[in-house]
Amino acid sequence: MLDKPTSTEVLRLQNIHKSFGGVVAIEDFSLELKAGEIVALVGDNGAGKSTLIKIISGVYTPTSGSISFDGKEASFRDATEAREAGIEVVYQDLALADEQSVYMNMFLGREKTKGPLGMLDRKAMRDETAQLVKELDVRIPSANATIRNLSGGQRQGVAIARATHWATKLVLLDEPTAALGVAETAKVEEIVASLKERNLAVLIISHSLDQVFRLSDRICVLRRGQQIGVRETANTDKNEIVSMITGV
Ligand SMILES: Nc1ncnc2c1ncn2[C@@H]1O[C@H](COP(=O)(O)OP(=O)(O)O)[C@@H](O)[C@H]1O
Ligand SMILES: [Mg+2]
Repeated sequence: MLDKPTSTEVLRLQNIHKSFGGVVAIEDFSLELKAGEIVALVGDNGAGKSTLIKIISGVYTPTSGSISFDGKEASFRDATEAREAGIEVVYQDLALADEQSVYMNMFLGREKTKGPLGMLDRKAMRDETAQLVKELDVRIPSANATIRNLSGGQRQGVAIARATHWATKLVLLDEPTAALGVAETAKVEEIVASLKERNLAVLIISHSLDQVFRLSDRICVLRRGQQIGVRETANTDKNEIVSMITGV
């Protein structure tokens, strides 16, 4: 049985385990996320961070444990169901359709149509994408540009714009600034902070502790699939987090 949720709780993970064959990727992980809260998930490579995000977003089913989302027991059968519930993800590998335009990527799985034959409403999608890209200050040549022809930073911008546009409850970000320069990183951090203002819950994976300390309310540390601890960002420091990450 799940505990009774608090009013602002968006996500609750309880005793999540995940193994891939003989490999234990996540061992007994529990965490709650509230609306308007940014939690950073940190740990070395292979710690299980991306696996955890994929469990929340319905890509993987946990081996055991329970997930409650928006006050209800959740068992998303795939990422589409999680998206319908209001969860958006920026995956480490971005998951964009490389041969498609920016606007088609923005509406992937949610294409606008018109008329009795359900023709794609390309103009509406292009216009909305152009507006969004402008608002978020993502510098791309045009909404018509093919993803394959964009730089790493521009692709990242598209993936983030898509997630922030559609999310209604929760945004999961897997190393969103790993490939970005200083100015682009600052822009992404601004967007993440604006999600908090929209009262969304955010779980962000980052290797930059500076970024983690700038953005997060709480920091959760994973080491080799084990949850080492969760700290209020205001009540900890880099030394403590580094020693939790490394175990020394
Ligand atoms: N699909 C998979 N099949 C088998 N093992 C996996 C799979 N995904 C992740 N793992 C393993 O789970 C562990 C955690 O991986 P991951 O979640 O990607 O770590 P992180 O994102 O923290 O670097 C690693 O040992 C990795 O090899
Ligand atoms: Mg990862």
